[in-house]
Amino acid sequence: MTKSSISASISVTDAEIAKVVLMPGDPLRAKHVAEHYLENPVCFNTVRNMLGYTGTYRGKKISVMGSGMGIPSMGLYATELYTQFDVDAIIRIGSAGGLSDQVKLRDVVVAMAASTNSNYGAAYNMPGYLAPAASYDMLAHSVEAAKKLNVNAVVGTVYTSDHFYYPRPEINQQLRDLGHLAVEMETAGLYWTAVGCHKKALSILTISDHLFTGEALSAEDRQESFHEMMEVALEAAWQ
Ligand code: ADE
Repeated sequence: MTKSSISASISVTDAEIAKVVLMPGDPLRAKHVAEHYLENPVCFNTVRNMLGYTGTYRGKKISVMGSGMGIPSMGLYATELYTQFDVDAIIRIGSAGGLSDQVKLRDVVVAMAASTNSNYGAAYNMPGYLAPAASYDMLAHSVEAAKKLNVNAVVGTVYTSDHFYYPRPEINQQLRDLGHLAVEMETAGLYWTAVGCHKKALSILTISDHLFTGEALSAEDRQESFHEMMEVALEAAWQ
């Protein structure tokens, strides 16, 4: 879609938005991705400093834009991208806190589904509960890409929390017992939005800290594991 498209929170300038959009939480990460991973990046959004860029990766047009933190912010931007800018697929690229023994620092987690304490999904008015789940073809492509790139990717369920500082940390033991790999703050919102808009979505995460070992990545290791996740995400976006 072109520069004439104006929505409440995204104001397209002189670049079109691609069919596939990568979304880190931090808009400065989006700028970093555009400058280091895309060719000829052009900024399309600066509203609220939620920077968005479009460039090419191996000849394919790809966009990258910040999502902000939490389900409401992710839900807002994903909805506008899907419904007002013709975006087909969004790939969240983010970090998560490890819960399970199956994941260690720097691992890449591909989120097959997301449990959550958020009530955002109630708006879909399902009898019972609308399951926030990934798009299978994108998930399969990312797993294939990780194998090819020799990146240790673990596929499973994550927990999307409305709290970074949850007042009862003992909940983490229950989340771990129920098979959650890691905790983060946006995936369920993205998956619900994709289902509601009949579009596609995937969350690819790196483990930046572990809630049971107490370990956390150094700034240098964060950069390196971010690079591994980016390689997987770009391959999945390129398909
Ligand atoms: N993202 C990275 N680490 C996290 C944590 N411990 N809780 C929620 N989101 C996170």
